[in-house]
Amino acid sequence: MPDLYSLVKPFLWRLDPERAHRLSILALKTIPPQILPAFDSFPALEQSLWGKCFKSPIGLAAGYDKDAEAVESLLSLGFGFVEIGGVTLRPQGGNPPPRLFRLTKDRAVINRMGLNSAGVDMVVQRLQKFSDCPLPGPLAINLGLNKDSENPPADYAALAGRLAPFAEILTLNVSSPNTPGLRALQDPGKLTEIVDSVRTSVAGPNSSPGPALLVKIAPDLSDRDVSDLAEFSLSHEIDGLVVANTTVARPASLRSVHREEAGGLSGAPLFNPSTNLLRTMYKRTEGKIPIVGVGGISSGAEAYAKIRAGASLVQLYSAMVFEGPGLIRRITKELACLLEKDGLKTIEDAVGADHPIGEDS
Ligand SMILES: Cc1cc2nc3c(=O)[nH]c(=O)nc-3n(C[C@H](O)[C@H](O)[C@H](O)COP(=O)(O)O)c2cc1C
Repeated sequence: MPDLYSLVKPFLWRLDPERAHRLSILALKTIPPQILPAFDSFPALEQSLWGKCFKSPIGLAAGYDKDAEAVESLLSLGFGFVEIGGVTLRPQGGNPPPRLFRLTKDRAVINRMGLNSAGVDMVVQRLQKFSDCPLPGPLAINLGLNKDSENPPADYAALAGRLAPFAEILTLNVSSPNTPGLRALQDPGKLTEIVDSVRTSVAGPNSSPGPALLVKIAPDLSDRDVSDLAEFSLSHEIDGLVVANTTVARPASLRSVHREEAGGLSGAPLFNPSTNLLRTMYKRTEGKIPIVGVGGISSGAEAYAKIRAGASLVQLYSAMVFEGPGLIRRITKELACLLEKDGLKTIEDAVGADHPIGEDS
């Protein structure tokens, strides 16, 4: 895989980033997953969370496969789980192009896609084909909000109700920076209404556990917001947090020509702020709420740092733009080696290892 990607990369990079992304999805849709090389499994990386089995803690973050076009191939590339979406209730086109920028010198991306989505009907139609032949790993679905939504709790609930039968995880996206007003829904009062209506909509007639409900938060929160969200997550027994979405901050270190473009910044410059937020969240929730750590991961060492800071699972997106899909196997192997080097037998032993519970925050 890495060799193939380095062959096609010069061609892809001459294209506009959105067109290159589209081509990569088309390639994945075309390649039968069965012909992708089987990936090494590492028993130490396996874990059970929310009653679901994860062969690896390394997942694909939301935003790459927004409309569930290549789920099976993505799982076959070696991801332990894949998050599709954001999916919105009604189809919407998103912002006008150009809206995706590579910041090559900074190993970063800026996007202002604006939650472009084919809509829930199309996504359900695509996922229905897996009803009889289960996917090779857990599926997470990122729930987005239409920009003209007049009733966010009702829209999130309708989306969740349609998508729950296909998902192991539902992620409430209240943190994309490109939908005006969306981040205001991180306010605990508003979030309570959304979570309550989603839970009512997802609750089945029987006692089957259903998908885990996660909340994805922004890296641009004030200290007060972080405390409020931690308290909210504990009091509402949220299944998990995804930390974090893209940032609207622009670190002074950015060197690329596109650094002033409006939108959310992801990739290497997001690693430190998102890991610091994850560490704080883990401490303030006393390690009681599983966290998915995302932002700037491009190596096994970075995945391991997030896990030691408190992540039970991790995700990545931007690094794949620069390094291609071979990156996943490399990171997985590096992570397994790091665990072994530290004498840790399972991934659970590493979660939050940097700050044992009881340590002052
Ligand atoms: C082009 C693009 C589209 C994205 N779309 C979504 C989205 O629809 N929903 C969401 O929650 N996050 C979205 N994200 C954010 C990613 O899921 C992730 O949180 C962020 O990119 C940080 O991870 P990374 O540094 O590994 O890319 C998007 C990111 C990019 C680059």
